[in-house]
Amino acid sequence: MARRTNTKIVEKPIADLSVVPKIKTTAYNDINLNAWKEYDYVKTDTLWEFPSRLKEGGHSNEYHGNFIPQIAQQLYWRYTKENDVVLDLFFGSGTSGIEAINMGRRCIGVELKDELAEKVSEKFTAKQLVTDVNIICADSASELAKKKVQARLDVMRKEKAQLLILHPPYDDIIKFSDRKEDLSNCESTEAFYDGFEKVAKNGYDLLEDKRFAALIIGDKYHDGEIVSLGFECQERMKKIGFRHKATIVKDMQGNERAKGKLAPLWRYRALMGGFNNFKHEYIMIFQKDEKHLRKIEKLNKLVS
Ligand SMILES: C[S@@+](CC[C@H](N)C(=O)[O-])C[C@H]1O[C@@H](n2cnc3c(N)ncnc32)[C@H](O)[C@@H]1O
Repeated sequence: MARRTNTKIVEKPIADLSVVPKIKTTAYNDINLNAWKEYDYVKTDTLWEFPSRLKEGGHSNEYHGNFIPQIAQQLYWRYTKENDVVLDLFFGSGTSGIEAINMGRRCIGVELKDELAEKVSEKFTAKQLVTDVNIICADSASELAKKKVQARLDVMRKEKAQLLILHPPYDDIIKFSDRKEDLSNCESTEAFYDGFEKVAKNGYDLLEDKRFAALIIGDKYHDGEIVSLGFECQERMKKIGFRHKATIVKDMQGNERAKGKLAPLWRYRALMGGFNNFKHEYIMIFQKDEKHLRKIEKLNKLVS
């Protein structure tokens, strides 16, 4: 077929379908592996540095203890497809939900504090609250929370969630409420680990097989020594059956509000006490893999 430009007749080239680049993606994200060099903004290393917190896109930094939106962005690019449902069992101020909307994903968030859940709802439109973001007020360790999430998944026409986000309190570092179910309010760190494990197990059961879970957590000092909350929670995730895929160290430039003006004092204390001030937290990545789990269980039975 020909088309006319000015006075010349130009032959329109017939498309050579054999050279049309094919899109190659994994089952868990939309990254076109045939154009992988174009995704330089997607992090694949184990050290994440963000010079400042993202403030655009409906995010505000009013909630002490929230994570920076860039964490959600990175997780969604790597571990979700468009329209997937993200399950966040410690929803807080809803950072994961806001970013889900911004990036064409959906979200179910569970938060213990009813007044917070109500306030966070105001960040979304009435339509979004019906179709894209479901906020549940419950104790994420409970059977009731699990049932409520399952009911919302049904409404969203998904059997299970496609990404699990766990950003628990870092034990008692920030006290979120006085409620006994609040993981920042446990009577001991051991009780915190046990409570975390219950929430993570609910998350495991609600997550689609072969999909990913992200645990965002930091450590704490107590009585002059480090309490490795991150590594113990990591072990609890593995105990439940998750495969451990990555441990990322993220700098805390963007969200370290607590120290502020007290930073020089903390430096003095560090020099005096022989410890180092935390400037990092962890983002630990896990995958649910039922086949692998069954294999391990079979091997364990043979050994015992
Ligand atoms: C570290 S904050 C999460 C912040 C959130 N990622 C954000 O960006 O706003 C932990 C949240 O977990 C909530 N929480 C504590 N124990 C809980 C439980 N058992 N079930 C559900 N939520 C809980 C707290 O009220 C708090 O809002």
